[in-house]
Amino acid sequence: MIVLGSTSEVAQAFVEKALQEGEKFERIYLFTSNKETTERFARHIDVKFLQQSEIIELDLTKEINYQNFDYINSSLLFCATGYLGDGTEEGLYDNKNTQRIIDINYSKLVPVINYFAQKFESRRTGTIIGLSSVAGERGRQSNFIYGSAKAAFTAYLSGLRNYLFEKKVHVMTVKPGFMATKMTEGLPLNPKLTATPKQAAECIYSAFKKQRNVTYVLPIWSVIMLVIRNIPEFVFKKLKL
Ligand SMILES: NC(=O)c1ccc[n+]([C@@H]2O[C@H](COP(=O)([O-])OP(=O)(O)OC[C@H]3O[C@@H](n4cnc5c(N)ncnc54)[C@H](OP(=O)(O)O)[C@@H]3O)[C@@H](O)[C@H]2O)c1
Repeated sequence: MIVLGSTSEVAQAFVEKALQEGEKFERIYLFTSNKETTERFARHIDVKFLQQSEIIELDLTKEINYQNFDYINSSLLFCATGYLGDGTEEGLYDNKNTQRIIDINYSKLVPVINYFAQKFESRRTGTIIGLSSVAGERGRQSNFIYGSAKAAFTAYLSGLRNYLFEKKVHVMTVKPGFMATKMTEGLPLNPKLTATPKQAAECIYSAFKKQRNVTYVLPIWSVIMLVIRNIPEFVFKKLKL
C-alpha cells in the first residue's frame, strides 16, 4: 500500500482500520514531508500488526526524483495530501500562500498520482483513493483558493476514474466535510458535522470495500452540499460563507 500524506491522522486511521480488517500488504510505503512524526507511526504498525513499512520522503514543494520510486509496486494508493493555507484576506493576496495551496493540493500532487496510476494501469489492477473536499463543490469567500484547488483535484480524480475504468483500476473520490485533525485545529467546527479521524477512516474503508466512485465522509454532507450547490448565484454571492 502507498500512503501519500502519512502524518494525516485520517491516513493513519485508515491504515489501522485496513490492517484490523485483515487486509494484507507486502509493505506499506509511507510518503511524508515529515519523517520524524511518520517514524512513530511506522514503529506503531510494525509492532502492533507485524507490518513491514518503509518511509519515503516527499515534499511537494521541492523537486521530485521519480527514479527513486521505480522499485515501488502496490495495488492500493491512499492520498491524504492536502494543505489548507491561509484563507484570510492577507492570505488571499499573498502569492506565496496562494501558490503553496495550489501546488500541494493539485499541481504538484497530480504528477505523483499519475506516476503510480501508470504503474497500476500497466499491471491492470489497483485502487486509488483520493481525499478531495466539499470545499471543491462551490467557491466560497472564506477559502476559495483551497476550494478551487480541490475542485481541480476532484475533476482530475473523475477523469482518472473514467480513463482507468477499462484498465481495471478503480479510483475513488472522497469528499470530507469537517474532520477534527491537525488541519482544522483551533477552528470553530460544529461537532455534529465533524468526523473524528477514526470515523472518517471507517466511512472511507466501507466505501472502498463497496467500490464506491464518490463518497462523502458523514452522509449529512451530501445533503448540505446539495443545498449549497442549488442556491441561485444572485443569492449565493451575498452570503458570508
Ligand atoms: N480536516 C478537514 O476538515 C478536511 C476537510 C475536507 C478535506 N480534507 C482533506 O483531507 C485530507 C487529509 O487532511 P487532514 O485533515 O488529515 O489534514 P492534515 O493532517 O494536514 O493532512 C494533510 C497531509 O498532507 C501532507 N502534506 C502537507 N504539506 C505537504 C508537502 N509540502 N508535501 C507533501 N505532503 C504534504 C502532510 O503529510 P506529511 O506530513 O506526511 O507530509 C499532511 O499530513 C487532505 O487532503 C485535506 O485537504 C480535510
